[in-house]
Amino acid sequence: MNRTAELGQYPTPVWVAEALVERYFAGLGAGDAVLEPSCGAGSFLGVIPPEVPALGVEIDPVLAEQARRNTGRRVITGDFTRAEIDFRPTAVIGNPPFRTQLIDAFLERSHALLPEGGRVGFILPVYTFQTASRVARYASRWGMEQTLIPRNIYRGLQCPLCFAIFSKDRRRTLVGFALYRETVASHGLEARYREAMEGTGRGSLWARVIDVALDELNGEGALADIYRVVEGRRPTDNPFWREQIRKVARTHFPRVGRGRYARRSQETLPLVA
Ligand SMILES: C[S@@+](CC[C@H](N)C(=O)[O-])C[C@H]1O[C@@H](n2cnc3c(N)ncnc32)[C@H](O)[C@@H]1O
Repeated sequence: MNRTAELGQYPTPVWVAEALVERYFAGLGAGDAVLEPSCGAGSFLGVIPPEVPALGVEIDPVLAEQARRNTGRRVITGDFTRAEIDFRPTAVIGNPPFRTQLIDAFLERSHALLPEGGRVGFILPVYTFQTASRVARYASRWGMEQTLIPRNIYRGLQCPLCFAIFSKDRRRTLVGFALYRETVASHGLEARYREAMEGTGRGSLWARVIDVALDELNGEGALADIYRVVEGRRPTDNPFWREQIRKVARTHFPRVGRGRYARRSQETLPLVA
């Protein structure tokens, strides 16, 4: 592999960098600080408003020097995943090389450097988000939002692209992603519960899961018992399916004590949850 391909050296057109910063980081001010973790010759670094402190990092010394000259900003020559960085950014903006492990390492380092409320904005290949488990892993630490952008902003690029914002805040909101948490939740269930969810039948999916659990519990049980049998030997910290079970049990199953529910009679099965 040549050096360009190995280091993912595909510069972003300046107009693209400018449009993305204007659209997604319009509120940047003198109280912010922007870090460009793989700044190349400085496409993003050069469009950060002059009053906003900014720092570049670039592994290739030739490009790092070009970025210094092109932008007048300080640029650390080094590997962003391990370089010593004496700068506390409120935003990390750029275009890391399109290698999944490296993207993960860039996100990891960004998370460590950013304060609560800080944001990352990266151009990424859409395949970064193609599996539910990967997205769920990101979503356990970040709120996330993504928007498609044209792949042919880079000449000859074959993969679809998006601009993704990762927000380090407690809300963990997902915008532009659907069914990821649900998919991970259903894959984590014991086989018979997964079958109950995936098979066709009457009633909501989660109601069928609860039916199977209450059968296993001899007709009735507390929510904690239902969670325990559903999750089986693979306890998970995914709150999503517990929330679903709690909601559906409350609305569709007879309550027989504090937080305890019983099997439904066949006639009362709801068609939807
Ligand atoms: C896709 S280019 C993007 C350059 C610039 N952000 C832009 O948009 O024009 C990726 C850049 O990352 C640099 N790079 C690769 N691995 C790196 C690492 N571990 N740390 C810092 N820079 C790295 C490459 O040399 C290349 O300049």
